[in-house]
Amino acid sequence: MSELLGGWKRTNYCANFTKADAGKQVILMGWANVRRDLGALVFVQLRDRTGLMQIVFNSNTMNEADFARACTIRSEYVLAVRGELVLRTGDMVNKNMPTGELEVLVGEFKILSKSETPPFDITDDCKANELLRLKYRYLDLRRPAMQKNLIMRHKIAFVAREYFDEQNFLEIETPILTKSTPEGARDYLVPSRVHPGKFYALPQSPQLFKQLLMLAGYDRYFQIARCFRDEDLRADRQPDFTQIDIEMSFVEDVDVQSVNEGFLQRLFKETLNVDIQLPLPRLKYEEAMARYGSDKPDTRFGLELVDLTDIFKKSEFSVFQNAIAAGGSIRAVNAKGASADFSRKELDAMGEFVKTYRAKGLIWMNDKADGLASPVLKFLTEDEIAAVRKAANFEQGDVLFLVADVNKTVFAALGALRLKLAEKLNLIPEHRYNLLWVTEFPLLEWDEEEQRYSAMHHPFTSPMDEDLEKLDTDPGNVRAKAYDIVLNGVEIGGGSIRIHSQELQKKMFRALGFTDEQAEYRFGFLMDAFKFGPPPHGGMAYGLDRLAMLITGSTSIRDVIAFPKVQNASCPMTGAPDFVDDKQLRELNIACTKIEE
Ligand code: AMO
Repeated sequence: MSELLGGWKRTNYCANFTKADAGKQVILMGWANVRRDLGALVFVQLRDRTGLMQIVFNSNTMNEADFARACTIRSEYVLAVRGELVLRTGDMVNKNMPTGELEVLVGEFKILSKSETPPFDITDDCKANELLRLKYRYLDLRRPAMQKNLIMRHKIAFVAREYFDEQNFLEIETPILTKSTPEGARDYLVPSRVHPGKFYALPQSPQLFKQLLMLAGYDRYFQIARCFRDEDLRADRQPDFTQIDIEMSFVEDVDVQSVNEGFLQRLFKETLNVDIQLPLPRLKYEEAMARYGSDKPDTRFGLELVDLTDIFKKSEFSVFQNAIAAGGSIRAVNAKGASADFSRKELDAMGEFVKTYRAKGLIWMNDKADGLASPVLKFLTEDEIAAVRKAANFEQGDVLFLVADVNKTVFAALGALRLKLAEKLNLIPEHRYNLLWVTEFPLLEWDEEEQRYSAMHHPFTSPMDEDLEKLDTDPGNVRAKAYDIVLNGVEIGGGSIRIHSQELQKKMFRALGFTDEQAEYRFGFLMDAFKFGPPPHGGMAYGLDRLAMLITGSTSIRDVIAFPKVQNASCPMTGAPDFVDDKQLRELNIACTKIEE
């Protein structure tokens, strides 16, 4: 039988005691982490969400029955102990533990609850696979590393609330059961019982509602908002995730950016004690692609792309000729001094790697001590090689990687290769936080599959004033008043100045291939609202999970989400998604045409 609290109250959390508390009578409560028996003494590490405290049961100072009870304590039993907090002496001090100079000599204790042997060790070096940890997530969350992560996540949300409140923003909630808000992913749908055949969509973001709040006059809004997107999962994507969402009226892009730079500066100071210099660097989309092959460049290291197209304009080499004829380019990354780091096999493996980015191949040139080696040497002239050396600062000891293809593929392949090389060659400095804005994104991108344009950010983003006229004549080359905030190569947030004229919004929907009727059906409520005095407005949203991932140094956003989903969007603990009763389906007027085996 478990014991009851009997009026005991915890004095403090385990790790909150300091040497100054030595000599005090204290009550602690928590989980037994490890028990060690040394004859007359039993040591248990007591764990709570702050950390560990050693507690000592001494057969010489306890009655026999109590000591026998102490010997039954096993991992994950829940204990309440009352005793004296004392300083450890000599080699009893544990330097690896923040409270390693203290311990509690137990006078009385209660076993509040027992535990079966957990399916894995609840320690940070636990080797259990992630699926098992997620099945028993409540045990996994007892691990100090997970506790630290969730505490840090709380801190980030707290700083956001504090900062935006001080800046006069109002936190306003928007609906979860709503109409589709297009952010480029599939919607999660919820069937309506009272409207047979109709569905709510879970919001991909609060985008439309926050714009309507601007129209309603709440000119600085923020929300820590749950968003839902049915898209392929990756290490930095979840089907339900959280945004720190912001919108402001009477602003231009620089105003939104400057308020948010203030937030980021405060956030990094308060969470990591890191000083961020403002203003943050800004990089236009075009330049980001040309230099890093990515619209979310990791600028902690060099390895910038070099454009060699002009050098090969007259090349006889068919790979180069084809790329140029297709309107593409030939670009390279120079891995400086890395010649000895690559065997022939590894160079070939890099070729396989870029193929996953649709590149037809990768050309390498290795300038080894015994001369220049490359499978394409016979296709290159002396002059071309000399020009390449100059353009790419390609010298003895370097390896040059070239991709010749359509630009989209060249950027994707070299952008990814750049990251892979930086990792392999250990070029990424630790504890660096490179924040930057990427600006002037294209408004539209061509969707090959659908054979139409889609919005690069979302359909409510305003074109740049100087490109407005091109919306009819050359839509692919219109730039947007859109900006992303990037941290160490991860897009942690994005936003834009919005369209606030009904006419322009209509034009935008037409550019996206909607008929006026379709636009009216889906977004009529927004267009109607635009008839009633819409202020100029703009905003942005951060991925809170991604921010927390980077600030805690985690490699996956699952590590900063209490109950995340796995790759196939299921939850190993609850078993969601799951079948429902036929009765529920009947009530919803739903029949399933395909049932998972
Ligand atoms: P966007 O779609 O760029 O913009 O999203 C903003 C930020 O949200 C994060 N994010 C995600 N995080 C985890 N899992 C996902 N599946 C996921 N998808 C996005 C990213 C991203 O930068 N309404 C606009 C914002 C605006 O214009 O104000 C929007 O949602 O960090």
